[in-house]
Amino acid sequence: MSLAPFLAELDGLVADAGKAFASAADAAALEAARIEFLGAAKGRLKAVQKGLSTVSKEDKPAAGKRLNEVKAQLEADFEAAKARLASAGPATKTGPQFDPTLPGKPLRVGRLHPLSQTIDELKDIMGRLGFTVADGPEIEDEWHNFEALNIPGEHPARDPLENFYLSVAQGQVESRKSKDEGPDIRRSTFDVRPLLLRSQTSTVQIRVMERQPPPVRITSLGRVYRPDAADATHYPMFHQIEGLLVDRHVTMADLKSVLRMFATSYLGKDVHIRFRPSFFPFTEPSVEADMQWSDRWIEFGGAGMVDPNVLRAVGYDPEEVSGFAFGLGIERLCMRRHGITDIREFYKNDVRFLEQF
Ligand code: PHE
Repeated sequence: MSLAPFLAELDGLVADAGKAFASAADAAALEAARIEFLGAAKGRLKAVQKGLSTVSKEDKPAAGKRLNEVKAQLEADFEAAKARLASAGPATKTGPQFDPTLPGKPLRVGRLHPLSQTIDELKDIMGRLGFTVADGPEIEDEWHNFEALNIPGEHPARDPLENFYLSVAQGQVESRKSKDEGPDIRRSTFDVRPLLLRSQTSTVQIRVMERQPPPVRITSLGRVYRPDAADATHYPMFHQIEGLLVDRHVTMADLKSVLRMFATSYLGKDVHIRFRPSFFPFTEPSVEADMQWSDRWIEFGGAGMVDPNVLRAVGYDPEEVSGFAFGLGIERLCMRRHGITDIREFYKNDVRFLEQF
């Protein structure tokens, strides 16, 4: 064989092997190509190599040199193909391919609980009416939950069956030297100061007025607790919004205007307010406030002019200042607005209910 056809055979081999290695889609195809071209016994390179012996003596060095180059080229192409398949990862060798055109899994986006949303909105409305938000503890003492609110010891509202009491015993050690120079007397007194879960947000009225002189214009929103059996309209824990305004010359007309603006803002239309005479120990006069809701009057909470005894309890002078207060059920407002018929829905944590808000 002369040199030219031998070199042409080698060129053909380089072209075929390069294509086969580059297009091998998986490890099995690559291995098949390796055996076809580089196989030790029946590989095509081996076959071409056999032809070297028939090349004339003077052409042999050139033919041998080219053969070695081609061999190196084929091996390099094979290694490159192997590296390409390895970097594509095992999923491409076995198993299904990733399909980037498939739609993704939808992410569930969380949201605020409907009551949290209502609370935020009511805070906003009260803010626009000039009331700042005040907070108080949910565990209260009897002074803030009752006494300062003009609810004396024998009042039925203080019945342990009507409240969640927690009793906390506080030990105290008193050291005292008697006047007649007797021995040191160390006395241990046990002062039991009952605490309870607050039954109303009116406690915050007292806490704010104790801290600051008038004028006061606050709102407080939060949980209150009463041992009621749960049914469609009762739950042992619910939320109230309290409003308190104390200043000079505050009248019932101010109370009515604020409640009317509040209701109109929340319900988004012109809402009428009606007062019915009622009784609360901490307001005088006291009223139940109703609002008109699509041709129906619904009760929306208690209100009244702050009782002079309450003003005195916090060191205010009832001759100088007067005030109004109101306390409304937040669940009730939210239920009316959204047509929710059972208060227990708020506390079941059922996503199908919650995701509607
Ligand atoms: N605290 C009363 C209640 O829980 C509501 C109220 C608040 C009434 C303020 C008058 C004034 O029922």
